[in-house]
Amino acid sequence: MLVRKATVDDVPAMHRLINHFAREGLMLPRTEKSLYENLQCFAVAELSGQVVGTAGLHILWKDLAEIRSLAVDPEQHGQGIGRRLVESLLEQATTLHIEQVLSLTYQTAFFDKLGFHTVAKETLPHKIWTDCIYCRKFHQCDETAMLYYTKVRGKFNAASAAHA
Ligand SMILES: CC(C)(COP(=O)(O)OP(=O)(O)OC[C@H]1O[C@@H](n2cnc3c(N)ncnc32)[C@H](O)[C@@H]1OP(=O)(O)O)[C@@H](O)C(=O)NCCC(=O)NCCS
Repeated sequence: MLVRKATVDDVPAMHRLINHFAREGLMLPRTEKSLYENLQCFAVAELSGQVVGTAGLHILWKDLAEIRSLAVDPEQHGQGIGRRLVESLLEQATTLHIEQVLSLTYQTAFFDKLGFHTVAKETLPHKIWTDCIYCRKFHQCDETAMLYYTKVRGKFNAASAAHA
């Protein structure tokens, strides 16, 4: 199994996967247009030439990015594909010098295994909620907010200490 950056050829399969789970209420639906527009945020998992998983890393602010649209083909669950996708996005966040990665999710046990921890939604900055206006659960969000601290956590403090 290979995890790589998404290409335009992957979009139909990504669209099918994401909207399969969106119909089950597990994530927000996405149009093909939104996938093309945001393609550079996305990774895919490829197995025997087929796209079997996808996930996107969306930068929200200088110290915060969010994992969105994480979806693994139901026939391939439990084989480490979700883990590999998330780990590749965490590496990408580290490379971009982003300190924290957020997931708003029902899959708390999965993200817990990957080193995320639960935080109170009220502690998150208001700017993260912009896409939530498209969600039918906007006023009664029942997802759990989970954060991962990348290896660059504390860089701002370290940088200011170095200049002190
Ligand atoms: C959540 C999801 C991405 C996990 O993908 P996956 O490829 O099946 O997960 P992995 O095989 O990489 O699992 C990694 C670890 O998490 C555990 N795990 C995965 N799903 C779990 C679950 N629902 N409950 C408890 N543990 C879970 C695995 O047992 C594994 O543990 P291990 O490393 O100790 O063996 C997949 O179930 C999915 O696509 N779900 C539907 C869409 C969805 O809810 N996406 C999340 C939106 S935020």
